[in-house]
Amino acid sequence: MSWPDWERRLTDPSPLSPLMTPIIAVDGPAASGKGTLARKLAAQFDFAYLDTGALYRAVALSVIETGGQVDKEPDAVAAARRFDMAQLSDAAFAARLRTAETGRAASVVAAMPDVRAAIIVAQRHFAETPPAGKAGAVLDGRDIGTNICPDAAAKLFITARTTIRAERRWQELQLDDASLSFETVLRDIEERDARDAGRAAAPMRQAQDADLLDTSDLSIEEAFAAALALVDKKINL
Ligand code: CDP
Repeated sequence: MSWPDWERRLTDPSPLSPLMTPIIAVDGPAASGKGTLARKLAAQFDFAYLDTGALYRAVALSVIETGGQVDKEPDAVAAARRFDMAQLSDAAFAARLRTAETGRAASVVAAMPDVRAAIIVAQRHFAETPPAGKAGAVLDGRDIGTNICPDAAAKLFITARTTIRAERRWQELQLDDASLSFETVLRDIEERDARDAGRAAAPMRQAQDADLLDTSDLSIEEAFAAALALVDKKINL
């Protein structure tokens, strides 16, 4: 932290100045393990956790459930402007967010700059003023380290080989839909990766100052140990 920042900090009356809020940014493609690792890091540091993918999923689901079309920009932008974090606390709505169809629709609305612009403040507000008096925040997504929280104290980019990610996602989705084939999930992940990395608006990419972690050949415990070691180098609590 630079001297002017320290000076501002010393004269700032709020004990939890956004200036000081430690943020851990966890980005990466679908089923890379970033959600599990972000959740475990939040528990480890007693930080608040936000799955930012859920916001795009919520926007997409709200378009579908109000009879709109996800590829029609006005429908998607209207849903994004209606978005309220409280929607995520509705358990029935939250359960419908995790389907393959919602994931696909989320990546379509996520490519629209006005959709992203409509929900950026909610994400930054969460990061800088974490709820429940938590001292820090962990956010996972695609553009946290590059765009939402470019000054995050620690940044991880989690990845894994495509077939491994598809296998993990297939196992997960099969619990709800046993008829889903591995090939369908693999195709879906490949299409989503291409759309997320290829879009003009905040594309998925590793921030220059992010640490890369490939979880392909790691158990959850091994991946978490590796993630924690990387974060510990950046955040000393
Ligand atoms: O869980 P999974 O990795 O499959 O997806 P997710 O994190 O729930 O994100 C769903 C979709 O939202 C992604 O495919 C992205 O298109 C979009 N997204 C985004 O654009 N930016 C974020 N920060 C988070 C998600």
